[in-house]
Amino acid sequence: MNGTGIPASVVLAELDQRRATEPDVHGARLFGLVYPSGRDDLEELFLQVQRRYLFHNALNPFKFPEIAALEAEVVQMTGELLHLPELGGGTMTSGGTESILMSMLVNRERARARGVERPQILVPYSAHPAYSKAAHYFGMEVVPVPLDDQWRVDVHAAAALIGPSTAVLVASAFSYPHGVMDPVADVAALAAEHGVGCHIDACVGGFVLPFLERLGRQVPPWDFRVDGVTEISADVHKFGYVPKGASVILHRDPDWSSHQVFLFDQWPAGLYGSPAIMGARPAAPIATAWAAMRYLGVDGYTEIMRDLMATVEKIRAGLEAMPGIEIVGAPIGPVLALHSSTLDLYAVGDVMDARGWNLNRNVEPRGLHMMLSPAHANVADELLADFADAVANHGESKGVEARYS
Ligand SMILES: Cc1ncc(COP(=O)(O)O)c(C=O)c1O
Repeated sequence: MNGTGIPASVVLAELDQRRATEPDVHGARLFGLVYPSGRDDLEELFLQVQRRYLFHNALNPFKFPEIAALEAEVVQMTGELLHLPELGGGTMTSGGTESILMSMLVNRERARARGVERPQILVPYSAHPAYSKAAHYFGMEVVPVPLDDQWRVDVHAAAALIGPSTAVLVASAFSYPHGVMDPVADVAALAAEHGVGCHIDACVGGFVLPFLERLGRQVPPWDFRVDGVTEISADVHKFGYVPKGASVILHRDPDWSSHQVFLFDQWPAGLYGSPAIMGARPAAPIATAWAAMRYLGVDGYTEIMRDLMATVEKIRAGLEAMPGIEIVGAPIGPVLALHSSTLDLYAVGDVMDARGWNLNRNVEPRGLHMMLSPAHANVADELLADFADAVANHGESKGVEARYS
């Protein structure tokens, strides 16, 4: 820190300069990390809400009962969307990772109550790293489950791996690397048969699949309507379009709160309670998630999804028409994984990088990865033209390593 301060205008100018060296979050040239809606009205609403809640702390529901009520309403609205039974419940968290951590903690506690010392999480090989993080934090063990030839978790393999230490089975609806649905009903049935938990990772799909279903698309059963599903994580800060810091973890069974909520009074300042990892919690993401849901409603989200899928289909058709480009598996929504047996797609990615597109690389199968958002509608033609040109005119791959997002 410098001794004397500097004028606000200089501080802001410095930030603008530094920000300009990074991808523009509104530019629709990022794929994942941010989920631009392309809607000025939404962004204006979010700014107004965040201004109002800039300094609030959601830690203490007694001091800020309305913030607690907003959180409860977000949980309730998400629960309605995902058909959470009446006795179920949940909380908001800072993001998908924290939601997954809380679910794994609850499942660990249930397994410990059954006498399992080092509970296991059976995780599809395609699942997000948050399950390994949970295992690392909570003294659990991850058992990877291989995928079938369509990049879905192999339920027969899962059945063979279930054992007395299994606490929970995981399925993605849908997966990050390939955008495909795991066979949720089969995974949940297997979990129920063995009396263990079944976590559905809908961090990406939670605010996609309900609206695809309303658009009349074929969506295999995946939410709480499936018997045996015990937990679902759904991120509002992905396809709910709000700024980062907003996810929901939902639990079917009412015992969750005794496992997830932390209470403590053995210190001089009296009772302390906290529902998830964070202590002090920003209220702005809670209020913003609430505002987005109230403002858009089911119809608003469904309309956004209709347009987004039109963009996905346009981009997909354009890519598939290019010689050598294959779409991996059967993606259900806005995530496309690209593979080629004739082209070096990493070299194509290098050309796209040089033109300012931030395409992600997948390792298995080797190729590129696109998480499409509504704002990509404005750049679809340019994206396809640049991609076709990169396919036709690329050199050797610079060997850019495959990195998540
Ligand atoms: C399927 C899936 N689960 C969980 C997460 C973790 O979410 P977050 O980055 O908000 O912690 C992601 C992030 O992309 C994801 O794609």
